[in-house]
Amino acid sequence: MKIFVDTAKLDEIKEACSWGIVDGVTTNPSLIKRAVDDAKEQGKEIDMETYIWEICKTAGKGRPVSLEVISLTMKEMIEEAELLYSKFNPATENVVIKIPINTRIDESERIDYDGLKTIKKLSQKGIPINVTLIMTPEQALLAAKAGASYASPFAGRIDDYIRKKLGLEFSKGDYFNFELIEKIGKKMLDKHLKSSRGEPAASLHLDTETKNSIGFGKDNGIESGVYLVKSIMKIYRNYGIKTEVIAASIRNARQIRQMAEAGAHIATIPFPVIRGMLQHPKTVEGIKSFSADVVPEYRELFQS
Ligand code: G3P
Repeated sequence: MKIFVDTAKLDEIKEACSWGIVDGVTTNPSLIKRAVDDAKEQGKEIDMETYIWEICKTAGKGRPVSLEVISLTMKEMIEEAELLYSKFNPATENVVIKIPINTRIDESERIDYDGLKTIKKLSQKGIPINVTLIMTPEQALLAAKAGASYASPFAGRIDDYIRKKLGLEFSKGDYFNFELIEKIGKKMLDKHLKSSRGEPAASLHLDTETKNSIGFGKDNGIESGVYLVKSIMKIYRNYGIKTEVIAASIRNARQIRQMAEAGAHIATIPFPVIRGMLQHPKTVEGIKSFSADVVPEYRELFQS
């Protein structure tokens, strides 16, 4: 699985690239805002053009950098995408344009299809597209059909959505134990089916309690962000779809393990979560005891 770093902070990109584990970078307007806010706190000003150019240069050739458009209609998104691509891609040849799968904010707007139309038009022009804000396998299928090079399912936000609907309390980095939620749903269903023994199947499969226990902790059949990625991978494999899946909105190391198990092509990981991937108390304990056990004879070897 390739690892992208999900940040617009130049110091984080530089540091992570220096470790030799980074295959690309993803940004979005919120991540750019965080980078700008950080700079302001340090009393610095960001010249956006130079700054983005630095990001692309730091990543370098062969490591894609996703830059997102900011408008909501096709015409404007195409103009912005072309501007970003023509400004930054010629020097580093690694720019990918991020387009949301759907840009409708308001029920009254009729721009449900502008995301798709934009993806198609830009892909036809040879501009690589990373389709963002994917929350369902259906959206991922449409993104691929429209010509996306990458599809970014937002796993963490799906976990948040399910946890909120369940009324669970959690912090952003907490692992979502969907396996447990799944077991609870199955227990609920078993209990209900046992208590309604003798009732005709036709009425049973329609009753609210059956539906509630089957749908317990799921978003239209999707159990978690990891399941979302698994489902997309399955669909893409079924049809030999070449679009690469970027598991995005990643919150913790265990989620990354499950994305790798699911066969995600790429995980885009926030800088602090990469640190979490390195940590284990037994590693700390081990390094302490190895350090304590160094005998002078062995140490001398390195001093001579
Ligand atoms: O790559 C998408 C990511 O930046 C969104 O993450 O944590 O805001 O859901 P998050």
